Amino acid sequence: MKKLIIIGASGHGKVVADIAMLNGYTDIVFLDDNAGTKECAGFSVLGKSTEAPEGEVFVAIGNTEDRKHLMEYYCNRSMPVLIHPNAVVAKDVKIGAGTVVMAGAVINPGAKIGTGCIINTCSSVDHDCIISDYVHIAVGSHLCGTVLVGQETLIGAGATVSNNVNVCENCTIGAGAVVTCDLSAPGTYVGVPAKRLSKPKLTGGID
Ligand SMILES: CC(C)(COP(=O)(O)OP(=O)(O)OC[C@H]1O[C@@H](n2cnc3c(N)ncnc32)[C@H](O)[C@@H]1OP(=O)(O)O)[C@@H](O)C(=O)NCCC(=O)NCCS
Repeated sequence: MKKLIIIGASGHGKVVADIAMLNGYTDIVFLDDNAGTKECAGFSVLGKSTEAPEGEVFVAIGNTEDRKHLMEYYCNRSMPVLIHPNAVVAKDVKIGAGTVVMAGAVINPGAKIGTGCIINTCSSVDHDCIISDYVHIAVGSHLCGTVLVGQETLIGAGATVSNNVNVCENCTIGAGAVVTCDLSAPGTYVGVPAKRLSKPKLTGGID
């Protein structure tokens, strides 16, 4: 029996559990800091996020800072890469530990994906893109070829990043934005073409 401890009993955790089952994990338990949450996707919530029993762990938390913090906390544990069987991932693509690739996502040749990333449903990462650690490529967003995304950045739902563009670390790209030139200052960017909002960034974007 393949066992997995999933941290984060939320909607995102539910999707991760589904992908874990499709990857052959049959013995799944959750951890969550909300004491009122007793089950997720039909699986038991055993305790707090820092109380994992022995075994492989997967941090399924949308909030980037929390995901990073818990992945660092469990840095000595084995963490799988979870890829939905209906994602298309080119043979030479390298993907770091603790990353999930969801249904309908496409990752084309030459791309590199860091640790703790979320490549969400029906998003695409084209050839030779470099996605740094703890990046979230949200539902239905598209990165054209040779895009670089810095650590802890969120590319919002339905956003597009043009080819050869660099998006620096700690950015939030708003839903539906089109990024047409390099973004070298952390911040929140919205619109077509994407322009900076003066407000500080939100982290994560999903629960
Ligand atoms: C960009 C975003 C982070 C801004 O959130 P926020 O900081 O709470 O900002 P507000 O909602 O207060 O909006 C501030 C301004 O930006 C505008 N704005 C917000 N999001 C926008 C977007 N996606 N596109 C265009 N304009 C947007 C608002 O209309 C508002 O304009 P105004 O000041 O002229 O009224 C958020 O709207 C967003 O798009 N998040 C991404 C969600 C997502 O994709 N999650 C992943 C799911 S898988």
